[in-house]
This record gives sequence, structure tokens and C-alpha cells, in this order.
Amino acid sequence: VKADGTKVFDLAMRAGEKEFRPGRKTTTWGFNGDHLGPTLRAERGDKVEVRVRNTLDEPSTVHWHGMHLPARMDGGPHQMVPPGATWTPHWTIDQPAATLWYHPHPHGKTETHVQRGLAGMFLLDDQRSSALPLPKTYGVDDLPVIVQDVTFDGARFDHGHGFMRNVGFLGDRTMVNGTLDPYREVRDELVRLRLLNASTARVYSFGFDDNRRYAQIATDGGLLERPAQTRRLQLSPGERAEIVVRMRPGERTTLRSFPQDNYGDAWNTRFGGGDDSFDVLQLRAATTLRPSPELPGRMGELEVPDASDAVRARHFDLKMSGINGRKMAMDRVDETVTRGTTETWTVRNTNGMPHNFHVHDVQFRVLEVNGQTPPAHLRGAKDTVFLPNGTTMKLAMRFDGPPDPDTPYMYHCHLLYHEDLGMMGQFVVV
Ligand code: C2O
Ligand code: CU
Ligand code: CU
Repeated sequence: VKADGTKVFDLAMRAGEKEFRPGRKTTTWGFNGDHLGPTLRAERGDKVEVRVRNTLDEPSTVHWHGMHLPARMDGGPHQMVPPGATWTPHWTIDQPAATLWYHPHPHGKTETHVQRGLAGMFLLDDQRSSALPLPKTYGVDDLPVIVQDVTFDGARFDHGHGFMRNVGFLGDRTMVNGTLDPYREVRDELVRLRLLNASTARVYSFGFDDNRRYAQIATDGGLLERPAQTRRLQLSPGERAEIVVRMRPGERTTLRSFPQDNYGDAWNTRFGGGDDSFDVLQLRAATTLRPSPELPGRMGELEVPDASDAVRARHFDLKMSGINGRKMAMDRVDETVTRGTTETWTVRNTNGMPHNFHVHDVQFRVLEVNGQTPPAHLRGAKDTVFLPNGTTMKLAMRFDGPPDPDTPYMYHCHLLYHEDLGMMGQFVVV
């Protein structure tokens, strides 16, 4: 902490190696350590500064996924950090409590940089979230769950896309927080899991092996108005959700990913990994559990725009070959939005394969999915949404960052192979 109260974080991107499997080392990248990165944490109103040092032998960036901040601090492909250099973005946290994350964003190379291990969580708190009776002791009853799929190839991670695979890399097993076959001992009745799909292409449908119900309490951008009971939750790359699960003394239950049926035809389902299933994380309850307070019935107001004062409607057509028929070009601004205004963005996928859609800087409201009211798990602040083939979503978003006509933010498919191929566009706020 500096004299003016700024919270300072140090992140060094570096190469390393890690023994994921006994006796077998894998070459990896990480922040400060060999693989993944520390959980950063700040509160609404905090001034933060991150010293990002690149000790790799190639340029990269660090993007604050889900964060509302000035475009120059966003860590997209325009804020490259050369080898040996340090980049020091700073901003004021100005959004509700949420589970955000950070990862590289170099144009054309995001998939490999993330897959090698550059990813971490950035948690935000605020007064409301701190006052609510939610599980909130980090590492005890409030657990980060970074889910990635992986295939080992000798001393490396496999980067191949495999036979007829158009979604990008799909691994044959999953890790949580960089650990294979993970389990976790818990000592509280209620356990909060902060789920982050940090995989490059794989979509998960999370549920428990005994099919128990659990409560979803948050989406990408923060708490829902009220907990939503569910048995399955689909998260595509980049999306987060917080869930609370009730444990009984001495029991074991396993968080799994179940086969999904919304990928389109059988071919896309098979080669997109839609019919795969994985054990993700086993929870092992102690024989006596500490009582947890009941979840609140209501958690508060959502801070997402509605469409009532939207001044402009834009349309985005998702294709593997580009968005609205164009591939990403670093020197072309695709959309110009006006500071302080709300817009609707309608995103459509008729490309035959799954895509998703992520917008930098904002947390949006999902107004409609195929013309219908969105399902409960999309009724919260979102920055990334999954669009299986045949999906159209209407989103409402408000742009209230500082104007900067020279520095664009990105919107893109967060299947990182697609992003790298050019399924990305740029917008500026003026
Ligand atoms: Cu998580 Cu533009 O990315
Ligand atoms: Cu982002
Ligand atoms: Cu895509």
C-alpha cells in the first residue's frame, strides 16, 4: 500500500516447470510462480496499481477480464509488454463485488499463453457483499475453482487442435487450480465455490455426481438479486459463477461436468466436446461441520443497465471467419460508442458451431435469448455469454468509462483459438 492508499500488486510473468504427475515435469508459465497466478483482491473504491513485469522471452499482455477501467489500462493487444519490460496500469475499482480474472491477450497468441498457465483470479468486494451472510473465508468455505482442460505431451502441454476440431484445443482431463484429480476437505455446512472456466475452448455443464441441488449466487459481474437453486450450470470459456453447496457430515460429493445437448448437430457435439463428461473436484466433508448461516433470501439490487434509455442498436454476426464478416485488424476501429449512453447489442450465431461473446469494460444485462426471457443463470451481470449454434441474444450495456478515441477495447469470441484467428473487433468510447 502506497502513502496515498493505492494498493500495489506485483505480477511477474515467468517460465517454469511443474510436476503435475509424479516424476514427470511439464514446462509451464506462471505469474510469480511456475503455473497460474496469485489471487488478487480489492474493494470497491480502492485505487489499485499492478506492476506487471515480463520475464518471458516473448511479448505478452495482462488483461483484467470483467473489470471496468480505462482502455489504456485494459491489457488488451494494444498494451503489449516487451520481454524485460514492466507495465504499470492503475485504476480505481468502480463496480460491485465479483469474481474476475486476469490473463494474457497478445493478438494471435492468447490461446497458447493462457494454456501454458498464465491465468489468475481477481476478486472484488464491496460493503454489501461483506455484510451479507455468505460463506466468505477465503480458502476455508470460499474456494477459488479455476477449471482447465489439459493434455500432456511429453514434457509439455499439448497445443494441438486434434482431428477435425474447429473449436480449438480440447484436453482429455481437467485440473482445478493446476491440480489433477483434485479433492478438498471442507469443515463448514455451506461451501462457496467460485467457478472460473479458464479453459481455452471447452464448455462445462457443472453439477454434482449425486445430482443434488445447489444455489447459484453470482454471475460474471457479481451477486444475483437472490440465490437461484439449480442442478446444472453451463459455463463457456471466460465465464464465472459462484455457487453455494450444502454438505452433510462425513459425506463425499463430486463436482462434475455433464454431457450437453445444445451444440447443434451430432458432428459438432462430438468434435466440440459437448458430449464429454469429467469429474472436476471432489468435496470431502469432515465428520462434524461448523454451522453456516442460512443464505439470504435477497442479496440486493442488480447494477446492470436496462434497455429503456438505449440510444442505439448494434448487431454482431458470429462466424469463425470473423465478426460481421471482418477479421480483427489492429488498426481498424469497428464501433464507436458514446460515453454515458446505453446500447443494445444483438449477437447471433448461425455458424454451425459453438461460439461465445465477451465484451471488455462493461457488465451487461441479457435481455433476450432467442426472443425469450433469459433463464435464471443469465439474469445477472454478465461480460461473457455462450451462444451455441442457432442462438441470438440481445444484450443491454452502458458505456461510462473515460472517453479515449485512440485506445480501443475488444469484443470477441472467448474460444481462444477463434479469437486468435480473428473473431474479434474493437470499439472506442468517445
Ligand atoms: Cu478474457 Cu478479451 O478476454
Ligand atoms: Cu476481457
Ligand atoms: Cu468462436
